[in-house]
Amino acid sequence: MNVVPPTIENVRRAAEAIRAGGVVVMPTETVYGLACDATQDAAVARVFEIKGRPDENPLIVHIGGLDQLERVALRWPPIVEELALRFWPGPLTMVLPKRPEVPYRTTGGLDTVAVRVPDHDVALALIDEADRPIAAPSANPFGNLSPTSAWGLDDAIRTQVELVLDGGDCALGLESTVLDLTGEDPQILRLGSVSRGDIQAVIGRPLGIVPPPAVRKSPGMYRRHYAPKASLRLVERLRPGQAGLTFEGAEGPTQVLMPRDPVAYAANLYSTLKRLDDQGVDEIAVVVPPEGLAWEAIHDRLKKASAR
Ligand code: TXA
Ligand code: MG
Repeated sequence: MNVVPPTIENVRRAAEAIRAGGVVVMPTETVYGLACDATQDAAVARVFEIKGRPDENPLIVHIGGLDQLERVALRWPPIVEELALRFWPGPLTMVLPKRPEVPYRTTGGLDTVAVRVPDHDVALALIDEADRPIAAPSANPFGNLSPTSAWGLDDAIRTQVELVLDGGDCALGLESTVLDLTGEDPQILRLGSVSRGDIQAVIGRPLGIVPPPAVRKSPGMYRRHYAPKASLRLVERLRPGQAGLTFEGAEGPTQVLMPRDPVAYAANLYSTLKRLDDQGVDEIAVVVPPEGLAWEAIHDRLKKASAR
């Protein structure tokens, strides 16, 4: 098995693999990532291939701190540093004009690059040892659930990488929020672990959400995403014996009691769906969570996972 504990020695091995153009799986505080040197075209191409991801869907580049931003981004407005002070290391990804050193392969042909500093010791140690910006999409086959533990990793992914650094369960369990800072006003491109309310508090005004690419570019393409193998359905309550996620009265092995706190709910969502998948359930009913900005990213994922 190529799943190893994140000892200093193993982090060094992973860093060497990355410098040599290889692909490894690394833990982050959000989800596990399929990691490679963001500046090596061929390595990035392999990540796309392993993931089965469409070429035009760009990768997030992970750096060690705000001081390394100049390695990947050409320029940025002052608000970026304020946001970085508040949210980095952490699950806020910022989209900025890219430097020429970042290949178009990484950015899906765009002149912009998405950057974040992961809040995870192992990921930071890996970036530091490799001394490269690290491109890493979530380590799932395209369209599936993102892995929030080494156990959640698909065999088809695991067997194609040099090494999996097992960092245990991801603390947040939901992907980063992607924020576009290249236009007049910042705009959310993907809802995620940092809530819209938290970002609004820093920028001091309401923040819009850009409609997903499915609406903008290629209808239908990304509609179903973040999805378990079972079909997912949103419901008001669970029927007796119906497999699913609820906030009260869970009974039997396939009904799961979920936390009423959105952060705790997010931390458990993908792993719970994955567990029901592994139990062979073919439909998962999910009791609709409360409304509000703190639940927005969870609604987004449930909507995409339940799309047909
Ligand atoms: O939490 C996360 O963000 C995880 C961990 C591993 O960091 N990564 C992750 O990556 O979720 P991925 O590839 O599954 O999602 C990246 C998202 C996609 O929605 C992609 O379209 C968007 O970021 N993105 C990346 N670069 C972009 C760019 N230059 N412009 C607009 N969107 C971009
Ligand atoms: Mg993903």
